[in-house]
Amino acid sequence: MHMSDPSVKGAAGTMQVYVCVTCRRENEPLEPREARSGARLFAAFSKVPSPTGVQIIPVECLSVCRRPCTIAFAAPGKWTYVYGDFFPEASVDIIFAGAQLYAEAPDGVIPWRTRPLELRRGVVARIPPLRLRPGAAESKA
Ligand code: FES
Repeated sequence: MHMSDPSVKGAAGTMQVYVCVTCRRENEPLEPREARSGARLFAAFSKVPSPTGVQIIPVECLSVCRRPCTIAFAAPGKWTYVYGDFFPEASVDIIFAGAQLYAEAPDGVIPWRTRPLELRRGVVARIPPLRLRPGAAESKA
């Protein structure tokens, strides 16, 4: 079921892929941090050119620590998606393919039939686009 909202539109072709660089598998030591699965996944992105409009951004912990490696897709006006279960050595192409589909989707919702299997299985959460009401910043919660 898609609950996309046709009134929510993001800029086509511009998006960010957040990569948790602190993710580690159970058998991985805390140090050195560069050896963690998340850090290695992020390093793998630096070895290949990113698709146009896709930014790869390192972050420390997306609070999905039990499903390393964790990433998120985000863009202005779009749903944000959080995914887990990626492998540092084998996931860059999959993530780039998903990122391109996300960038092409006006609301960030990749149609289920075209969504890569890893994104179907690995989805952890999706968060609706931020909508600020006029004056919301001044109102008391
Ligand atoms: S350490 Fe990666 S999600 Fe927490």
